Amino acid sequence: MSLRTSREIVVTPGPTMIPDEVLGAMHRPTVDLYSESLHEVTLSCLEDLRSIFRTSGDVYIYPANGHGAWEGALSNTLSRGETVLVLESGQFAKGWGEMARMLGLQVETLPGHWRRAVNPDQVRDKLKADKGHKIKAVLVVQVDTASGVRNDIAAIRGAIDAASHPALLMVDVIASLAAIPFEMDAWRVDVAVGASQKALMMTPGLGFVAANARAKAVNRTAGLRTLYWDWQFRDGTEHYKKYCGTCPEHLVFGLRKSLDLIKAEGLDAVHHRHHLLAEATRRAVAVWAEGGALSLNAEMPSERSDSVTVIRLEGKHAERLMDFCRNVCGVVLGVNIGELSGEGFRIGHMGDITAATILGTLGVIETALGALSVPHGQGGVGAAIDYLARSTARKPNVAARKPRSTTKKIEAPVGA
Ligand SMILES: Cc1ncc(COP(=O)(O)O)c(C=O)c1O
Repeated sequence: MSLRTSREIVVTPGPTMIPDEVLGAMHRPTVDLYSESLHEVTLSCLEDLRSIFRTSGDVYIYPANGHGAWEGALSNTLSRGETVLVLESGQFAKGWGEMARMLGLQVETLPGHWRRAVNPDQVRDKLKADKGHKIKAVLVVQVDTASGVRNDIAAIRGAIDAASHPALLMVDVIASLAAIPFEMDAWRVDVAVGASQKALMMTPGLGFVAANARAKAVNRTAGLRTLYWDWQFRDGTEHYKKYCGTCPEHLVFGLRKSLDLIKAEGLDAVHHRHHLLAEATRRAVAVWAEGGALSLNAEMPSERSDSVTVIRLEGKHAERLMDFCRNVCGVVLGVNIGELSGEGFRIGHMGDITAATILGTLGVIETALGALSVPHGQGGVGAAIDYLARSTARKPNVAARKPRSTTKKIEAPVGA
């Protein structure tokens, strides 16, 4: 029994679904690597990425995934043997720390909780205790894609200031850039790391690192620099220096189009869309949770991410539910990873998602909960619809409500 066709709705938290316009923009013949028009596309992408990172600093595009961009951030700002502090709130800051360790850095971790955001007071106390300023950089993710927790970056900046500590603040915005507000300059983030395959609605393959003036100053003496990642080389004006080699031109054409789509919608409107669809998702999950088998992973409402929702569900139900959604209904949910591996699933609601995508996804999950007899509260989808209806409600238009004249004769089409 199948209710699906070949095209799947993929609501994993990355890579996300790619708009047809973006796919189409990549479907074109090769252009000359040295053409001025290609160089201009790169420069326009850098300019628009700046406005998405909300920075007047410099942005670098690497043909790499998020791990590559992590390495780019570390190698440009640190030297072997220096210490970084990882703020744990799930899986990904720890992963960044692992990369730092292999680069020859000392890694200290502020232990966290998979269901809670980083506690800024603990960050302040940890940095205050570092009297000799041994810690050179603080690494944190804005949204941890494995836990669905959103960290308060402005508050973490405040904690570093409160400790009067000079460490660089480095933020992974891979699962939050262009999904939720991020203010690199206003929050005095020194280095931010992004990637193309999530809310930027592109294929995997491009990593981004944004650096402010403080980070650029530290870069002058950073011992881990290598030619490929190096900002100084990439600051050169020739086009090939922007990529330290051949421009990944089709990826850049796709990126150009995705940035156009974001610009056309408006960044604030993009954030608002993400918020409404994330909240609709949470409303549905809250109702289902009344049945006792599933729950939202992030405990505090204020710490829940608008880009991904992580749901805990007993292992015996989780696999069957994901199979049903995919194989019967054509909706691909994200698996839980790390500490939550096998114990639930994730709904990625970032990038090219609409009310139809999310309501369809929630409808399919609710169908699966029923079909598989997983205990759940009734009416989750209804709660999501009610929320969206209220959030988008329009004032009644008096003119539109005037009864239509019934006397007007409707002309029959010619030849009918
Ligand atoms: C928050 C976050 N950081 C880093 C990464 C690693 O990115 P990549 O898999 O592209 O190397 C991911 C991947 O999902 C992520 O979600």
